[in-house]
Order: sequence, then C-alpha cells, then structure tokens
Amino acid sequence: MKVLVVGSGGREHALIWKLGQSPLVKELYAAPGNGGIAELARIVDINAEDVDALAEFAEDKDIDLTVVGPETPLAKGIVDEFENRRLRIFGPTKAGARLESSKSFTKQLLKKLNVPTPAFAVFDDATAARAYMKQSALPVVVKADGLCGGKGVIIATTQSEALGAIDLMMEDKIFKRAGERVVIEEFLPGEEASIFVLTDGKHAIPLAPAQDYKRLQDGDKGPNTGGMGAYSPAPVVTDEMMTRIMNSIILPVVQGLAKEGIRYKGVLYAGLMLTSEGPYVLEFNARFGDPELQVVLPRLRGDLAELMEACIDGKLDRVTLSWDARSAACVVLASGGYPGEYAIGKPIRGLDAVKKMEDVLCFHAGTKREGSQMVTWGGRALNVVALDDGIDGAVKRAYRAVEAIKFEGMQYRKDIAWRALKVGVKAKAGGSV
Ligand code: AMP
Ligand code: GLY
Repeated sequence: MKVLVVGSGGREHALIWKLGQSPLVKELYAAPGNGGIAELARIVDINAEDVDALAEFAEDKDIDLTVVGPETPLAKGIVDEFENRRLRIFGPTKAGARLESSKSFTKQLLKKLNVPTPAFAVFDDATAARAYMKQSALPVVVKADGLCGGKGVIIATTQSEALGAIDLMMEDKIFKRAGERVVIEEFLPGEEASIFVLTDGKHAIPLAPAQDYKRLQDGDKGPNTGGMGAYSPAPVVTDEMMTRIMNSIILPVVQGLAKEGIRYKGVLYAGLMLTSEGPYVLEFNARFGDPELQVVLPRLRGDLAELMEACIDGKLDRVTLSWDARSAACVVLASGGYPGEYAIGKPIRGLDAVKKMEDVLCFHAGTKREGSQMVTWGGRALNVVALDDGIDGAVKRAYRAVEAIKFEGMQYRKDIAWRALKVGVKAKAGGSV
C-alpha cells in the first residue's frame, strides 16, 4: 500500500514512523514533511493546504491511503475532495471539521445534545458582546470562533482585559475573519486532559490519554504555544473517568453528528476540563494533538495503517487496541524567541547520539537537511520522546537525551510531567532533572 501523510510537524513524523512499521505499507510519502521525515518517507513538495495539488498527486501516484495531520486542510475540505475522486483518506469532511473550525457550531451542538460544556454566549456584534461582558463573572474566557492556530483564546481576569479581548478580536480583527464572531464562556477551574478518539461515524475507541503543556515556561508561565511537551498515560484520566467521558461526551457527539447527516470519520480530539462535577468540553479538534500524539503512538501496539483502514471502512467495532504499559514523555526543543520571532537555519548537534539511545525517539518538527547538516527550520524544532516504567523514569530518560542535543538559542521546559509526578520536578542547571 502507498501512503501519503499531509503535514510537516512532530505529529506527522510520529505518524510516518508508526505507519512505516506496518507490513501493509510499501511506500511512504510526506507533503511537505521535514528534515527528520525525509529519512523515512519521500518528500513531496506540496503545501499541506494545497488541497487540489495534493489530490492530483494522490491520483497520479495511485496513493492507497492519505492521512491528514493538521486542521487547515480538513477545514478546507480535503476529505470531500479526495472522496469525490474516490481516493481513500483518513479524516473528517469539511462539515465534520467544523467541530474545530467553528467554536460556536460546536457549543450550539453540545448544548442541543446536553453534553457538559461551560455556559456561553455567541456574538457577531461588538457592542452586544461588551454589554454581556459587563454582567459576566470573572475570570471569563473570550474565544475567536474560527481557526487561529491555537492562539484564539483569551482568559481575562479583569473587566478591562475582557473588553480589550473583544476589541482585539472584533474591532482590530487580529485574527481576521476568524475573530469576527466570538464565544464568551464561563471560566471553569480543574485539571485539563486531552482525549483522542478514533471513530468511523458509528463506533468510537479512545486512545491512551495524554496531557500537554501549552505554556512556554516552567510552572505554566509565559505565553501559550503550540505545545512544549506531553506525557502519556495521564493518571487523572482513570478507566472510570474514560468510561464517563465516552458515555457523556464522545458517543452523544458522534451520534448527534450522524443525526445531522455528518458521518464523522477520523480522530476526534476532545480538550476537556475535569471538574469536581465531572468532565466538561472546552473544545474539539478534528485531528490528533501535537505534541500529544508523539507520546501516544509510541505506546500503541499493533498496526496503525490497519486501524485507519478500519476507520474508513466503518469497521472499528472489530478492533481492540493494546498498549505498552510503560509511560512516555516528550520534551519539545524550540528555537530562541518562539512563539514570537525566531531565527532559523541553526545547525543541530547531537542527533546521532540520541538515535543510539535506547527507548528514546526524536521526532522532528521544524527542521531541514542542508547537505549533511540538520538545521532548525521552525519555532518548535524537535520532540524528544522517551519510554520507561512510570512517568518519572520516562521524564528522566527524555531529559538525559535532551542534554545531548544542542543548537543556538535552544529553549525547552524543564518541568514536563510535573503534574503527573505530583511532587514536582526541580530543574537543575543545564536542564537535567
Ligand atoms: P481551547 O482552544 O478552547 O481549548 O482553549 C485553550 C486553553 O484555554 C485551554 O486549553 C484551557 O487551558 C483554556 N480554557 C479554554 N476555555 C476555558 C474555560 N472555559 N475555562 C478555563 N480554561 C479554559
Ligand atoms: N497540543 C495542542 C493541539 O494540538 O492543539
């Protein structure tokens, strides 16, 4: 089977690494891929958002399965285009991807289905939004309706911050059309968890739970990022909690979508707040999380290509998943300045040493090969992942590997998985734990 993976991040490197282990997969392509992916797959020079060019490529090359990593091509309707051309593809259609591309659509659906989600109101008009804000309890959460690359949420602790958020989104249009409509939402305290569920539109199976670290700096300080690290399993999501999440959230949503005529196939990613009153939905994504997938896939036993085929064919009821009992931790190595401006093209040292380390994987994100040298090519450059008995062991192993890697300006969090370790992890100078 010939497989094409769309995207260029650590998530796509992990997908390719896992798909490459399938006996079914004979040829692997990545569009546009990165320096690390190039070692495992043929690089195709097509942008991940160029739906027509990707479909033409898949037709020309007789690609048997396309797997979509990021949200934008899904929101643009890549699955609809491929299905029109009778090409097999893993992911939801444009209508299904609205779960991620329109927060107001999702909130209204959840309300209709009686699925727990924070109280909310939707506004297209800034004056009405401001008036509503004046009688909202603080803190309050202001969300741009559309896709903003993970930056469209502002948690305001004062009235003036909340009003400022509305101005930024609706008047200054910092997110362009994505912020013309806003959702104003009640703030919920609790512990967050990400759940990925595979669904064929009828059946649904959860993958192992993971937790990510969105803030740039230790102690959850600094700006939000695409994710600075992750670990799996997430002990807060007990088996009992997972059953509750499936019954009160996931299955009603999959069935609710089907009732609206949307057969959702692919991965449903639920961003949840686990409160004292149970799990609440903060958001849905229509794709795998990055860097969460980088700790989930190394623990998955079995054939990912087979699993994705079962999803496409509506046969997930015949599948059972099994997991490596060990834990996995991921530390993201980012360029200096990220998530603001950063330099690229910095030579990366130590990758060969890390390749030889046992139970350590290095998934590339923003990297590129220049001659014999791997260089940084993005904000998040590398994901160092380690497996070990218990989170503690996995984290220590990951940080040992991190110490072997160097590039100018490299920054990373020293406290990944501290929540799971409870006791906290004290960072020593040099980034070891
Ligand atoms: P979202 O993109 O909707 O998941 O929001 C991004 C982040 O903002 C989440 O991961 C939470 O940390 C935080 N957040 C979003 N909505 C809420 C809420 N209603 N209450 C508390 N925190 C929230
Ligand atoms: N790690 C957060 C995301 O993928 O959206």
